[in-house]
Formats: sequence, structure tokens, C-alpha cells
Amino acid sequence: MTMSAHDEIRRLTAPDIRARKGGEPLVCLTSYHAHTARILDGYCDVILVGDSLGMVMHGLETTVPVTLDMMILQGLAVMRGSKRALVVVDLPFGSYEASREQAFASAARVMKETGCGAIKLEGGRRMAETIAFLVERGVPVMGHVGLTPQAINAIGSFRAQGRDEGDWAPIEADAHAVADAGAFAVVLEAIAEPLGRRITGNVAIPTIGIGASAACDGQILVLEDMLGLSPRVPKFVKRFGELGPSIERAVKSFAEEVRARSFPGVENVYPMRKKKV
Ligand code: KIV
Repeated sequence: MTMSAHDEIRRLTAPDIRARKGGEPLVCLTSYHAHTARILDGYCDVILVGDSLGMVMHGLETTVPVTLDMMILQGLAVMRGSKRALVVVDLPFGSYEASREQAFASAARVMKETGCGAIKLEGGRRMAETIAFLVERGVPVMGHVGLTPQAINAIGSFRAQGRDEGDWAPIEADAHAVADAGAFAVVLEAIAEPLGRRITGNVAIPTIGIGASAACDGQILVLEDMLGLSPRVPKFVKRFGELGPSIERAVKSFAEEVRARSFPGVENVYPMRKKKV
């Protein structure tokens, strides 16, 4: 029997991630490109094609203008670059909130056209019925509660949530609603640490923290933020690299060498073939 490339490395699935509740922490990062997906694939359980691409790749102020076509294009690139991680693609603002049917049509398009293994959508109790509808129809859903950036125009700022105990109940109810609706995991974004810890202890599905708690079942960051490429980052980001200055140094050297005509050197140009005698 011959083995196809498909058989060699089995991609993680939503049920694999769901089964990791309370186990070894889940490692998750965002990626929008084939090259970065290839690097992440060796280390990450989940690669998220986040709608943060609108801000990170396109310089938008918010994620609101991001379209389904933008998500599909970058989702495809990430699928091409990775083999093992579960690739989750965000449904962007306006592509799923109107009805469960709209959500299914968008999710089905994303899954068919990218080959990704799951989608993510924002919202807790208000999205529970939609999540259940999708899951019943074969769409694995990752939830996203706490700070939900697509709602920026309604909430007014990217402020952390649940920093007063009196504000905990709706956030907890959102996380439970997402889990009860059948989501395989839930992102907890920018919430008070004790609340992140408490939700993780109470919900049945893995929690993926971003500005939540080290107690979460996994952690996620936006790749460009943790690499030191994004000019401004929230408090919850730790810069694990300083790629910005490193890219600038390389670009500066290139500019200097081009202006001095020292690049390309002899090793970078094609000599003529030697004539046969
Ligand atoms: O869009 C995104 O990158 C996200 C992460 C911040 C979780 O949703």
C-alpha cells in the first residue's frame, strides 16, 4: 500500500483540541501567510487566521471592514503552509450575525474554499443558537467572549472586561452559553485574571486566553504583536522577538549597498557560459 502525502501527517481536529481540556496547555498563534504558517506548524496546536489581519496586514483601525473574501484568501495561504496544526478561520463582522442560515452559508464557504478545520465567531449568549445550528450541521466552532473587537463601535473602546466582580456574571454566562451550544473551545480575550481562572475551572471546553489568565487551557497571541512588528500592542502582549528593528537594519543595509553599487556582488549575478572548444 502506498502512503499519500495526506496520510503522512495527520492534522489535528476540533475533537483533538476539545479533548485537551485540563491537559497540556494548547499553543495557538495567528498567521495569515504560507511562510509564517510553515514555521508555526512545528510548534502550534492551533493556527488562527484571525480577522486581526485587517489591522495587522492592511493597517485598518478596527476589524469591522474585513470581508469574507479577505479571510478566505489568507486562510488558503495558511492551509498551504501548514500540515499538522488545526487551522481555524475567523468569520468577519457582518458575515454571520443576521441569522443562523447566514452564518452557515459563510462558514460553509470558508470551509469549502480553504479546507480549514473550524471557524471562530465572536459573541456569547446572543450567538448560542447559531453555534448550535452550525455544530449540528458539521461546522466546528471556536467561540470568543470577553472583549469582542468586532463590537468596537458598540462598546466604545478596547478596554479589558470584568475588572469589577459585579461585571463577571454576563461574561461567565457567555462562556457557558458557548460551551453548552457545542463549541469545541472558547477564546477569552482581555478579561480580569481571576475571572479567566474561574471560567477555565467551570466550563467543560478548553479556554484559550489572550489577556486572560495563565490558568487557561491554552494561550494565543497575534504573531506580529509577539514578534515585535506591531507599533502599538495591548498590555497582555509579551514581545518574544524584536523583528521590527531587525527588518529595519536589513532594509537599511540593502539601501546602502544598492546606492554604493556593492549589491549585487559577483556571487549574485549570472556569468556567461564558458564556450565549448
Ligand atoms: O483576530 C484575531 O487575531 C483574534 C485573536 C486575537 C484571538 O481573534
